[in-house]
Amino acid sequence: MSAIDQYVVIGNPIAHSKSPAIHAQFAAQTQQAISYERMLAPLDDFAGAVKKFIRDGGRGANVTVPFKLEAYRYATKLTPRARAAGAVNTLKFEADHILGDNTDGVGLVRDIVYNAGIELAGRRILLLGAGGAARGVILPMLAEHPAELVIANRTAARAHELAAEFTNQSASLVASNFTELSGQFDIIINATSASLSAALPDIASTLLGRQSFVYDMMYAAQPSVFMQWAAVQGATVRDGLGMLVEQAAESFFLWRGVRPDTGLVYELLRAQLLDQQ
Ligand code: ATR
Repeated sequence: MSAIDQYVVIGNPIAHSKSPAIHAQFAAQTQQAISYERMLAPLDDFAGAVKKFIRDGGRGANVTVPFKLEAYRYATKLTPRARAAGAVNTLKFEADHILGDNTDGVGLVRDIVYNAGIELAGRRILLLGAGGAARGVILPMLAEHPAELVIANRTAARAHELAAEFTNQSASLVASNFTELSGQFDIIINATSASLSAALPDIASTLLGRQSFVYDMMYAAQPSVFMQWAAVQGATVRDGLGMLVEQAAESFFLWRGVRPDTGLVYELLRAQLLDQQ
């Protein structure tokens, strides 16, 4: 067993994960003696890979595509936000249980509220998408008490199914298709995978104005087509790089009990993204 506490990020593929670089910065900053590596798990044996890591003394893991649902099933205890997300991105290996958490939603909320300085409380918010990315952020967003949270999806039935899972949490949650949306939104969050293929969710430009704040969970060196479209309407735009750093910080906090300074790491990653162009 290693003298220092070991952590990994598990996925398949995993070579491009930025998590080891982020956690190395956090550890150096907070003087935590940990190791954090990439782990490529076989597509058909996530559980075997985790079991071996625990046997070898592993203390915790981040979990990424395509294993977040398997991690949810593998955990023996779940935080409320992991249960609501139906997916786990953080595992903590304790003596008598395996804790499953999901830090994506709180990562998004922290990036918007603390880093961008945009209040969610009392605001009218539109969440685009009804897949795993959207599901993962609903509970932490509702916890901020927006005036209204509208979940809109290209396939409307999925938005309705998703909203129905949370109706006992908040009366301000509404589901819609893209065409029946109306009025202006203070905040629009793109949780669809459209930006991955440079596609634009088909929503009306009248839904946002100069005072709107528009967030795309994707990130790249250049703004996504969605961000570019929103910027043309005069909205303030932000990509998902800060969410990546904040979800990592929340995992680090769960494991180590200390909160790293995310601003420095964000600046570093942003500079690296621009260098790699
Ligand atoms: P993830 O885990 O990233 O959320 P997912 O479960 O495959 O991935 O969900 C992808 C989401 O992006 C869905 O909401 C999908 O809409 P549909 O349910 O109608 O398929 C949405 N999406 C993908 N491409 C899109 C596009 N070009 N325009 C609008 N929505 C899109």
